[in-house]
Amino acid sequence: MMRTAICPGSFDPVTLGHVDIITRASKMFDRVIVAVLENSAKKYAFTKEKRMKLLNKALAEIPNIEVITFDGLLADCAKRFDAAFIVKGLRAVSDFDYEFQMALINKKLNPEVETVFLTTKSEYMYLSSSVVREVARHNGDISQFVPEVVLKDIEDGLKD
Ligand code: PNS
Repeated sequence: MMRTAICPGSFDPVTLGHVDIITRASKMFDRVIVAVLENSAKKYAFTKEKRMKLLNKALAEIPNIEVITFDGLLADCAKRFDAAFIVKGLRAVSDFDYEFQMALINKKLNPEVETVFLTTKSEYMYLSSSVVREVARHNGDISQFVPEVVLKDIEDGLKD
């Protein structure tokens, strides 16, 4: 039986923390769908198409992944792609409340799906897309936060 997992997120933009979680998921599952979804409470710096392009570039070395986008609920996205697992990275206790709520809602909406949490590598505990955006907008060095292949695209995309 083929085991498919979804790694969902905004990826605005992709960071080394995302790449770490997706790489580890790709070793645990046969197929990993990297799903660029929208959180309606957020305003995005990069378009969906650009976020997908950056992910494809950053993840080009991993054979069993596909980058997709889906308009709607993560629970429906899992159904559509036959994924029995949702994989999320947990950084700190501060992530827990929100992620716990999401996992329970997704289970209600799609009882077939299990959410699996991977603890982030300690060197990425502090890292988030919003930190990357903030540092880059103030002309700080983001080279240790994002994959090298997309560094310039991200810097250019965040210049005003
Ligand atoms: O990287 P993020 O911003 O933490 O990702 C959050 C995301 C996009 C995965 C989440 O908001 C999501 O699943 N959006 C799709 C809509 C949905 O299913 N919402 C949860 C049920 S209320």
